[in-house]
Amino acid sequence: MALSRKPLRGMRELPPPEKRIEDYLVRRIAGAGRAYGFEEYEAPVLEPLELFAAKSGSELAVEQSYNFVDKGGRELIMRPELTPSLARMVAAAGELAYPVRWMSFPVCYRYEKPQRGRVREFMQFNLDILGASGLEADLDVILVLRRIMLGLGATGERFSIRYSSRELASAVLERAGLDPSETPLAFKIIDKHDRMSREEWEDWAVQEMKGVAAADAVIRLASCSNLGSPWLRSIAGDSPAYSEMVRFSGMLESAGVTEARFEAGVVRGLDYYTGVVFELMDTGGENRRAICGGGRYDDLVGLFGGQRVPGVGFGLGLLTLQLFLETYGLLPAELSSSHPADLFLAVYSEGQRDFAVKLAERLRDSGVSVELDITGKSVSKQIRTADRKSIRFVAVVGPDEAGTGELTVKEMATGRETACREEQVAGLVGR
Ligand code: HAM
Repeated sequence: MALSRKPLRGMRELPPPEKRIEDYLVRRIAGAGRAYGFEEYEAPVLEPLELFAAKSGSELAVEQSYNFVDKGGRELIMRPELTPSLARMVAAAGELAYPVRWMSFPVCYRYEKPQRGRVREFMQFNLDILGASGLEADLDVILVLRRIMLGLGATGERFSIRYSSRELASAVLERAGLDPSETPLAFKIIDKHDRMSREEWEDWAVQEMKGVAAADAVIRLASCSNLGSPWLRSIAGDSPAYSEMVRFSGMLESAGVTEARFEAGVVRGLDYYTGVVFELMDTGGENRRAICGGGRYDDLVGLFGGQRVPGVGFGLGLLTLQLFLETYGLLPAELSSSHPADLFLAVYSEGQRDFAVKLAERLRDSGVSVELDITGKSVSKQIRTADRKSIRFVAVVGPDEAGTGELTVKEMATGRETACREEQVAGLVGR
């Protein structure tokens, strides 16, 4: 029986047209990061399971992960995210020129049910500031995120950045009478409030919180999207966390981040967040899951011993971002047809091959990307192939060209032919 032609379910298999889109996103995103002084780093794909079991929460580390015991008997995990590895790197580095601004494009693995925007192997963009505890850092990472989106052509009506604070949510729950030991459960419930119908979710909340009274604050918190709401102010208006949110909201406003809105129901699913949390959503109905999620994690680095280094950052899914851009027609059309070669060099007959090989090398030296025919098929077949590959320019090397060193370069889209010497080709193809 023939082998299956399909990769494992949910795995990232990108033929060149798909990879082109990913590369385009990586280029644009990294450019935005660099504009704020971020530099790239790498971390391992394979990690000890305990790194994630303690830091991310058991749902992600155990239920939603690829983990196994290796030949040395160690419990390992294919990283479901990057933040715990980053925290370890920073803890190990000790003295750095804080605040550090680091970014990375990890491929991550999660054992999830594949569906729109959710796969099992995916590339994320991570951008984090470590060593700065003020809200200025939180604002800075949100500004990068916003620049990425606007730079890709998304307008402010298409996406929203919903933010809140875990400290505020904790203060509300505690003042509503919840025992602090129940906060993680309450966060888990709140985090899922928009993944099921309202009725179903409320029933689940009552059941999990063991009673309507205890579930009341959870349900109210999840639907509060007004920082000035009388309920919120009456319960937590005098808390430091509330004042901090008011200040942060003002900072976002004066920085012109019109896409940001407060939503108390944003608490995020990962255990390590300690302060501001946020996520970026499509405002339309097509893409319902978060495109990006992030927040502040001030205690993560300290878990590795040594000094406490506060952190804030986000993870942006490249697949979710691509789906969003496709929904609104924001991917450049030329991505679907571009080819790395500027020029296809057809070879008229084998008598010109040696000349053509050397000519192609000289053209590459001058910066032109050249695909030279290697098939020896007829010139018309060679040109047809170049056309199917969408290579923009074609030139045929025949006895005349080999004799005079002059080329006739044809632009495929317009049919325009230009006679030139090889030194002029780079200028002609725009290199
Ligand atoms: P996260 O919310 O788990 O956060 O993931 C961030 C983003 O990664 C999501 O919003 C989504 O775009 C993408 N993503 C997550 N799971 C999948 C999946 N199964 N398939 C496709 N895309 C997915 C984190 O990972 C945090 N470590 C982010 C962070 C960095 N917080 C602070 N610094």
